[in-house]
Amino acid sequence: MGDTAASLLRDARKVVVFTGAGISAESGVPTFRDALTGLWARFDAETLATPRAFRDDPALVWGWYEWRRGQVRRTRPNAGHEAVAAIEARAPHCTLVTQNVDDLHERAGSAAPVHLHGSLFAPRCSFCGLPASFVDDLPADGSHKVEPPMCERCGSAVRPGVVWFGEALPEVALAAAVEAASACDLLLSVGTSAMVYPAAEIPQVAARLGATVIQVNPRETPLDAIADVNLRGPAATVLPELVRAAWGPE
Ligand code: APR
Ligand code: ZN
Repeated sequence: MGDTAASLLRDARKVVVFTGAGISAESGVPTFRDALTGLWARFDAETLATPRAFRDDPALVWGWYEWRRGQVRRTRPNAGHEAVAAIEARAPHCTLVTQNVDDLHERAGSAAPVHLHGSLFAPRCSFCGLPASFVDDLPADGSHKVEPPMCERCGSAVRPGVVWFGEALPEVALAAAVEAASACDLLLSVGTSAMVYPAAEIPQVAARLGATVIQVNPRETPLDAIADVNLRGPAATVLPELVRAAWGPE
């Protein structure tokens, strides 16, 4: 384990943990861009993850997200999620910013992740925005259509509470992420390919303003160029080791 990374984390006063799909990979939740296993290798983002896709075929898109929600419900947080919750408990100040739409950080004990791309567990009306509830868990299989519920207030179709390609990020979440990244002295990036903007700007903001950047990823990403420390390995192994090296056993 990089002792440097451990001492940097231990000595940091304001920490941002920035996570992507890779932290949920070892829970069995597919990433997006990993070859063969990534969602975009098997499904077409353009026909599933855009406002137009939902307008054209709400049942196909709703069915696909219900399949993804069912997948998440059948998984459990892994040691990487738990290590992030430990960092939040041990660092003087810590803000968790995630691109993930699963609820594994919450189920691992993170109190208030900033969800830059929304959540599978926050459906809302596609017209008036009224938060909606799920119908009983339909066993969607990712390929068959499921009619979305109708809004109780205006009767429009309920949509997944996630940010689609071409949509703006939730203003409150983005402002919170930028504020935390601007004020931190260390940003720990875990399990993201750092390719999707504006979310991928968050580590850049921290680095530009002088924060130390540590990256955890088994592969190289564009963040290698700005990271002070690159920990090459899977999050569920590297993060618990990093927390133990920084603060000792629980
Ligand atoms: N531990 C840590 N990192 C891992 C692991 C692991 N066990 N397994 C894979 N990774 C890394 C991959 O090397 C890759 O760099 O996780 C990253 C996953 O990258 P993506 O699939 O692109 O996921 P992400 O970066 O979260 O995508 C950002 O793109 O499609 C949109 O909205 C979607 O939020 C998503 C955004
Ligand atoms: Zn409505």
